[in-house]
Amino acid sequence: MGRCFSAFGENFEPGNAQAVNASSKPKSSFAPPVLVLLLAMGCYGLVFIKAQEASKNGTNIWTAPARAARKENPTPVDDKSRARGRELFTVGCLPCHGPSGRGDGPAAASLERKPGNLTDPKMWQQTDGAIFWKISEGNAPMPSFQEAFSEEQRWDIVNYVRTLAPNETANKPTK
Ligand code: HEC
Repeated sequence: MGRCFSAFGENFEPGNAQAVNASSKPKSSFAPPVLVLLLAMGCYGLVFIKAQEASKNGTNIWTAPARAARKENPTPVDDKSRARGRELFTVGCLPCHGPSGRGDGPAAASLERKPGNLTDPKMWQQTDGAIFWKISEGNAPMPSFQEAFSEEQRWDIVNYVRTLAPNETANKPTK
């Protein structure tokens, strides 16, 4: 976008007239409006392509902010925490994400967007902090769970969600 606007600027800046004339041959009086139109179309096209690229990545463009992703998980990963998380998951998440986290819960079909697949090993590319943030914030149609579940409960859910996807990397990324 920046380039587009600077191109506009060059055309209108009287001081740059020399440079513009040198690079663009047709110097007739109708050239500037035509150029502006072409540039405008070009800029629009660029924005359009960018938007398409973003939507092509589909389900994976929801990213937690770096600061949130760095947040350390304060809850030890043990069977007790996972069991608590499992219970909360059944109540709050299963309707959409399904019993095993594949995104095939009873409510999933009626959603305008498919629930994320929590069994994908790629889940391990996200930190605990990032998953915690997503549970806390939500992203329509996924609701925010900041009010429904306490912080402790949300970390328990993170610990449970970790059991849904096979960890293909030997060690889980901590950063
Ligand atoms: C109303 C349906 C719904 C409920 C309830 C719901 N989710 Fe989601 N969830 C979604 C949808 C839809 C997405 C995809 C959002 C996106 O990618 O923008 C999603 C995405 C996610 C993601 C991100 C997956 C990824 O690939 O990064 C996580 C993690 C997640 N949900 C966990 C949970 C947990 C844990 C709960 C319960 C506390 C929960 N969700 C409850 C619908 C739901």
